[in-house]
Amino acid sequence: MKQESGATLPIWEKNITLPNTHALHENLTCDVCVVGAGIAGLTTAYLLAKEGKRVIVLESKSIGGGETSRTTAHLSNALDDMYYNLIKHFGKDGARLACQSHAQAIDKIEEIAKDAGIECDFDRVDGYLVATTEEEEALLMQELEALQQIGWHDVVLRKQCPAPYLTALPCLHYPNQARFHAMKYLAGLAGAILEKDGQIFTNSHVVDFKPGAVSTVVTESGHAVSANHLVIATNTPVTNKVSMHTKLAPYRTYAIGVQVPQRDIPDALYWDMKDPYHYVRLQRNPDEEDYDILIVGGEDHKTGQDQHLTKHFQELERWTRLKFPSAGEVVYQWSGQVFEPVDGLAYIGRNPGDPNNVYIATGDSGHGMTHGTIAGILLTDLIMDRQNPWTALYDPSRSPLKSAGEYFKQNLNVAAQFKDFVTPGEVEDPMQVMPGTGRIIRDGMTKLAVYCDQDGVRHKHSAICPHLGCVVNWNDVENSWDCPCHGSRFDPLGKVITGPASADLDKVE
Ligand SMILES: Cc1cc2nc3c(=O)[nH]c(=O)nc-3n(C[C@H](O)[C@H](O)[C@H](O)COP(=O)(O)OP(=O)(O)OC[C@H]3O[C@@H](n4cnc5c(N)ncnc54)[C@H](O)[C@@H]3O)c2cc1C
Ligand code: FES
Repeated sequence: MKQESGATLPIWEKNITLPNTHALHENLTCDVCVVGAGIAGLTTAYLLAKEGKRVIVLESKSIGGGETSRTTAHLSNALDDMYYNLIKHFGKDGARLACQSHAQAIDKIEEIAKDAGIECDFDRVDGYLVATTEEEEALLMQELEALQQIGWHDVVLRKQCPAPYLTALPCLHYPNQARFHAMKYLAGLAGAILEKDGQIFTNSHVVDFKPGAVSTVVTESGHAVSANHLVIATNTPVTNKVSMHTKLAPYRTYAIGVQVPQRDIPDALYWDMKDPYHYVRLQRNPDEEDYDILIVGGEDHKTGQDQHLTKHFQELERWTRLKFPSAGEVVYQWSGQVFEPVDGLAYIGRNPGDPNNVYIATGDSGHGMTHGTIAGILLTDLIMDRQNPWTALYDPSRSPLKSAGEYFKQNLNVAAQFKDFVTPGEVEDPMQVMPGTGRIIRDGMTKLAVYCDQDGVRHKHSAICPHLGCVVNWNDVENSWDCPCHGSRFDPLGKVITGPASADLDKVE
C-alpha cells in the first residue's frame, strides 16, 4: 500500500515468480553474451537461443530489475514524438518504417507469448490521443495529416473521447494497440531462454568490458564470459563513455495505480498532449472482483534537475481525480527513468567505436517495450548476418544534424549543470542532514553527498559523478543520488544503480 511519501513497489512486482538464477561463479564461453536482463536483453537472448546460438545473459540485479519492472506497459506505435516530427527527421519513408517496426514489435510480443506459452495478460486495445486546448487540437490535425502521409489510414478523428472527462475536444482513435503484464512476460521469456539451454546469471554486475574479435566481460566477482558477439542491453550504454550520451537525455517519469470500479472506464490506452504528457491505461484485477487498477503516468522532468520529487505523485493524483471522477484509493506509486533520443527513435545496432561484433540498444523514449522488442529482432538479424530493413533507421552512428536544435539544447543543458561547482551547498553542516535524507555540502573546492541513515549515522561520499564529473542531487522518492547530466544514479551509500557511470561515488572518511 501507498505510503505518505516515497514509492511503493511497481504494480508488476506483486506476486511475480521468476525462474531460479544465481550469480556467475566460473569463467564461460558462448556465441553471444547479453549484458542486461530487461526487455531488450531478454528478447534478444530468446530470439538468438531460438536460432540455436549459445547465449549467456549477465544481469547486475534480478530479471527485470531495471526499468522494465517500472514500465506502464502500453504497447503502441502511436509514437509520442509525433509523426509530423519524425517526418522532419527521417522523411516519410523513415517515419513509415518506424511506424511499421513498432507495429511488428507488438505482433512479435503476441507471437512470442503464444509460442512460448507465456500468460502475460496480453490484450489488443485501442488508443486515444486527446487534445484539451485549441492549440493541441491544431497539432492533432497536423498529426492526422502526417499519418495520412505515411499511409496509416485507419487512424481516425473522433468527436468524442470514450473517457468523457478527459476532454470535450476531438481525439485521434488508433486501432490495434495493446497492453500486457511486463513482468509476467519477462519471467516467461527468461524461462523460455533457460529451456533452450541459454544461461542467465543474476547479481552479476559487469565491471570490465574488453571488446575484440572475441569480446570478454568480467563481473564484480572476477569471473569472465568470452563471446563472439557482445550485446550491451543496459538501457543506457555503460561502455560508450561520451558519443552516445550527447544524443540522449535522461528523464524521471512517475506512475500511480488507482482503484476504479470494474468496467467503469472503457478499456483503452489514453494519452494527452501536454508537455510533459499523461499516459493512462487499465489493468484488470483478477484477484479483486470489485475494482480494476487505473495506471496513470506522467510528470516527467530531467533527472537530477528538480527537488522535492514527491510533489509529482500528488500532482498525478490531482489530475487523475479531475479526469476520472470514479478514481478511488491510490494503491501504487512508483517512478523510473527513460532516455530520450534527440531525434525520437532508439539507437539499436553496432556500438560506435567498438569492433563490429559489439551492439547496443538505448534511447528507448516512452516506447521501451516496443523499442526493446525491435532491438531483439534487429540485433538477432545483425548477428545472424541477415538483412534487416530497419538497420539504417536505428543505427546508433546516425548523425544528429537533422535534429541539431534538440542536440544543442540537450548539450547546453548538460554544460549548464557545471554551475553547481560554484554554488553553495544545500546545508553547511552534516549534522543538518536529517535521518533518511541526503543533502549536498560544499567542502572547499568540491562538494560532498551526505546521507543520514535511520540510525543517525552520516555517510559521506564525493558528490562528483564518476562518469564525466557533474554534481549529483538527492532524489527523495527513490532515495538515490541522481546525476543531472546523463542520468547515472547511485544508492544512498554511493553504489552505482544506473549507468552510464560504471563506478561508485568515492567514499570520503
Ligand atoms: C514509469 C515508466 C513508464 C513507462 N511506460 C512505458 C510504456 O507504457 N510503454 C513503453 O513501451 N515503455 C514504457 N516505459 C519505458 C520502458 O519501461 C523502458 O524503456 C524499458 O523497460 C527499457 O528496457 P531495457 O531492457 O532497455 O532496460 P532495463 O529494463 O533497464 O534493463 C537493463 C538491465 O541492465 C542491467 N545492467 C545495467 N548495467 C549492468 C552491468 N554493468 N552489468 C550487468 N547488468 C547491468 C540493469 O540492472 C537492468 O536490469 C516506461 C518507463 C517508466 C519508468
Ligand atoms: S552521468 Fe554523465 S556526468 Fe554523471
